Amino acid sequence: MTEEAKSTELPSELRYIQYEHALEKQYLPSIRALISKDLSEPYSIYVYRYFLYQWGDLCYMALDPKTNTMIGVVVCKLETHQSHSPPTLRGYIAMLAVSSTHRNHGIATTLVRKAIDAMIARNADEVVLETEETNIPAMKLYERLGFLRSKKLHRYYLNGNSAYRLVLHLKRTQDMVGDVGSWVR
Ligand SMILES: CC(C)(COP(=O)(O)OP(=O)(O)OC[C@H]1O[C@@H](n2cnc3c(N)ncnc32)[C@H](O)[C@@H]1OP(=O)(O)O)[C@@H](O)C(=O)NCCC(=O)NCCS
Repeated sequence: MTEEAKSTELPSELRYIQYEHALEKQYLPSIRALISKDLSEPYSIYVYRYFLYQWGDLCYMALDPKTNTMIGVVVCKLETHQSHSPPTLRGYIAMLAVSSTHRNHGIATTLVRKAIDAMIARNADEVVLETEETNIPAMKLYERLGFLRSKKLHRYYLNGNSAYRLVLHLKRTQDMVGDVGSWVR
């Protein structure tokens, strides 16, 4: 997922909306189209439904209000992670994409912040994700938001590329800054 970004003029005001089941017909095809463009391993519709049926409230979309075209989306989940003692409530950013003509305007940053704020509202302890080590825009974005590299995953993807697992410790950040609402912004 390292397609080179080409910038274009941004619509003056974008609409950011939270996914809900009633919107599936209207928006799922655009979500799939946007995400599959940059994927080395395309997902079936069941993968999208797995996330959106259970955690639709952790999916945010950026729309051009004039054309109602989707230009960005983030898809996540939130589950109890039993292998930690005590178990932690772990958010996971599964998919993130912004249309190549609208990159470098802060759209992904806004989408990820909205998803993380929704996870904080649901008392998440941490947020994790994997990204290809060669995906510089994604690595920079997440590290700017406070994510740390927790593990290198050798030859993680089908194309043979390695990945980093990144983690954002929400509760530790809360202890440090004394306010859960003020994780790195
Ligand atoms: C990775 C990806 C989602 C980033 O999307 P984006 O919308 O371009 O990201 P942002 O605009 O929020 O951040 C990119 C840069 O724009 C800058 N930026 C942020 N707000 C800005 C603004 N208002 N105006 C101008 N630039 C801005 C940021 O500082 C950032 O620069 P830096 O990361 O070099 O510091 C996008 O490149 C993409 O869709 N790639 C393909 C799919 C992919 O790789 N997904 C991630 C899988 S883990």
